[in-house]
Amino acid sequence: MEAIKISEHVWWVGAIDWGLRDFHGYTTSRGSTYNAYLVIYDEAVLVDTVKKPFMGEMMERISSVIEPKKISYIISNHAEMDHSGCLPEVINEICPKKVFTSSRGKKALFDHFGLDNLTAVEDAQKIELGGAHFVFIDTPMLHWPESIFSYLAGDGILFSQDVFGMHLATSKLFDDEVAPYILETEAKKYYANIITPYSNLVLDLLKKWPSLNLDIKIIAPDHGPIWRSDTKSIIDWYKKWALGTTTLKSLVVFDTMWKSTEQMALHIADGITSEGVEAKVMPLYASNRSDVATELLDAGAACFGTPVLNGQMFPTVADVMTYIKGLKFKNKIGVAFGSYGWNGSGIDMLEEEMKKIGMELVEPALKVRYVPKDEDLKRCVEIGKSVAIALKERSGGNCA
Ligand code: FEO
Repeated sequence: MEAIKISEHVWWVGAIDWGLRDFHGYTTSRGSTYNAYLVIYDEAVLVDTVKKPFMGEMMERISSVIEPKKISYIISNHAEMDHSGCLPEVINEICPKKVFTSSRGKKALFDHFGLDNLTAVEDAQKIELGGAHFVFIDTPMLHWPESIFSYLAGDGILFSQDVFGMHLATSKLFDDEVAPYILETEAKKYYANIITPYSNLVLDLLKKWPSLNLDIKIIAPDHGPIWRSDTKSIIDWYKKWALGTTTLKSLVVFDTMWKSTEQMALHIADGITSEGVEAKVMPLYASNRSDVATELLDAGAACFGTPVLNGQMFPTVADVMTYIKGLKFKNKIGVAFGSYGWNGSGIDMLEEEMKKIGMELVEPALKVRYVPKDEDLKRCVEIGKSVAIALKERSGGNCA
């Protein structure tokens, strides 16, 4: 396997995970890549490594350019194991003079692997490594505490670890070689599922961006394509997503036992669309939590429905609520609904969860016993209309 040259002094030496379909609960229907980069001026520097089972692939690609033992330095921008899992073995094999990371990275890599003798770098620190001039940019909690970017002057490459990345296995390594709709779809999914909780930090970073005075020609993240032709689009998307900008779209997310809650969902969706608002219906028996999160990123509203099972929310609904609570989405309105047999406690629980994640509830929860009758379904349509009308009234604000 060969390295791919991305600039005068830099090669991609990462690995392609064609078969990845689940990344800690996030569905990755297009697989992923773990990007590592080899920088060669007078000496060689390896920027990040790959997931442990892919070390052989990375070493083979490095060997197509240089004998791996000739690498003098390693930079670890991010300690999560898809980028550091093979770091101990790589250090043993190539014996670099120094391994650089943030001060918090030193602790994280020690706690993960017992690695010591690492060299900490500070925010804005400039270092020359064998003729290569790097600047380090501290990016704590984007998306781990120890995360940093490193910028290679001369070649103008920003190595941005997970930020600006996406899960996409492709032999086409550059943004201009991938269909734009795939880039936007997968970058959005990545942002929604990984970066959303840290949106305020993204905004801080983008505010600070001009003052960094970096001539960025290429953004090279640790997953997916390298941005060499259009660095503007991904930055504009990040700004839009970080601001919580929403559209005239409402999700209707539910699960169902005997189709009662499903009937309610479909009639709520009908009410939403009758007001000219898009309804995205997501039955949880056919939708993964990470797809719900992706759609929720730019949806202005979300109606959540659950049947009641043994006095609780249905397990798939509870799963989604737990997941999206952690993602801290902004600017959502909605309503809870569902069918029950003995009591509606599971629907009340769902409504409470929606309040806890900061949603503004347009109507009290709609609870129907056993099977919805005509008047119940009419009420569902009315509730869908209410959600759509409320969303349109807000559209002068954050909706696009
Ligand atoms: Fe790609 Fe946060 O690891």
